[in-house]
Amino acid sequence: MESTLVKKEYSDKVIKPKNLYIESYGCAMNFADSEVVASILTQNGYATTNVEEDADVILINTCSIRDNAEQRIKHRLIHLRANKKRNNELVIGILGCMAERLKKNLLEDEKLVDIVAGPDSYRDLPKLLDELEDGHKAINVILSLEETYAEISPIRLNSNGVTAFVSIMRGCDNMCSFCVVPFTRGRERSRSAESIINEVKELSVLGYKEVTLLGQNVDSYLWFGGGPKKEFNKLSIEEQEQSINFAKLLEMVALIDPNMRIRFSTSHPKDITDDVLFTMAKYVNICKYVHLPAQSGSSRVLELMNRNYSREWYMGKVNRIREIMPNCGISCDIISGFCTETEADHAETLSLIELSQFDFSYMYKYSERPGTMAARKFADDVSEDDKGKRLQEIIQIQNSVSKQKNAARVGKVLRVLIEGYSKKSEDDLKGRCDENMVVVFPKENYKAGQYVDVVIERSSTTTLVGRALNLVLTL
Ligand code: 5AD
Ligand code: SF4
Repeated sequence: MESTLVKKEYSDKVIKPKNLYIESYGCAMNFADSEVVASILTQNGYATTNVEEDADVILINTCSIRDNAEQRIKHRLIHLRANKKRNNELVIGILGCMAERLKKNLLEDEKLVDIVAGPDSYRDLPKLLDELEDGHKAINVILSLEETYAEISPIRLNSNGVTAFVSIMRGCDNMCSFCVVPFTRGRERSRSAESIINEVKELSVLGYKEVTLLGQNVDSYLWFGGGPKKEFNKLSIEEQEQSINFAKLLEMVALIDPNMRIRFSTSHPKDITDDVLFTMAKYVNICKYVHLPAQSGSSRVLELMNRNYSREWYMGKVNRIREIMPNCGISCDIISGFCTETEADHAETLSLIELSQFDFSYMYKYSERPGTMAARKFADDVSEDDKGKRLQEIIQIQNSVSKQKNAARVGKVLRVLIEGYSKKSEDDLKGRCDENMVVVFPKENYKAGQYVDVVIERSSTTTLVGRALNLVLTL
């Protein structure tokens, strides 16, 4: 048995490395996970490719957050299946949340894929690929209490060489009633602070200029030296003294390279602390931007959503952020038409957007997800028409707030980290200001990875347009 394995490894690794093509959908966490997968497989004889046609193995890292995300991915898998008819050797695998949610249905009932690997089983992928060659079904959807892929150094895919994601925790314990994530990504666990620091140091040495620390709920990051997460007050005194919470981690990361920008996502309104806000205010290289999903402006709906805060609590957090950092950018996630939502609840959401003055929001229609608390307990009783109409009203009010906020930035000088060419023209560069708005300006002699001060001359709902004044060497 051992000798056949060695032979296979030899042939895969030395004689004919197999080409791996990874496609990612959904949240930043999925994109970061794909980089971990690329790292695991390149250490096992695979080479990554950006060209789908060159691939021996295609892995699709999937999202289950809303039904339309799943449908889009299913169509993609059906299309890939057709390619497989032309190339019988091609291996197609599904990773991430859909793998976890649909498990062997994809392998057996729908016969869409050859491999199914959930978010905690990526270390098993080389073995699953080997098993497939031996004619076995290849599935691992076991969720873990400990897996954080802590020491794996991700291979940056499609990188601009300037910005990178660093995952600091996995899973989620919040059980928002609409959300499938706790079921697909499992229990919350924090990654060791040391491994996070090492990864950020490596990125700094490689010349990266911005890292975004990722977690479903970064404010509950807690590291005390190992083992599954415990509540802070359940730690011994000694453990409490040694423990690292999110504010502390943020500070440790900020101190690595004062010329590297630090961002983070996502914050939870019930958990974000003054400590975090003061840490942000203290360091110039921590971007003044918070993504703070409200989901709804109605306390009644928030309670049904199991969000554990009220409209007043949320507004209190927004005000606190602006009190400590007056120009801080704030963005939001909003869901329209959650179970039982009335026109009066919806009106409260519209007013929350207006009052909070979000720079931008991600806005969605409620999509019932099987197995969630909402699917089990409440009727999905707002009509598609009403969900759509309310969503349009939400988008309209947010767009008008964004437009006004951007117009107020005209004439200001904003510090921008250049990420590359603008979408429309190679004569222009684009980057983001501290508050996370996209800024476009003529290229002149500036380059990706540099900081520049840009005077804003025009604005739209989503973009600021200006002219670079000068290069900035130290933040
Ligand atoms: N329907 C619609 N939107 C959802 N989100 C999460 N679950 C659902 C759902 N079932 C949204 C939330 C979350 C974002 C990532 O996706 O706004 O913050
Ligand atoms: Fe889902 Fe809520 Fe966890 Fe976010 S905090 S991943 S919305 S359960």
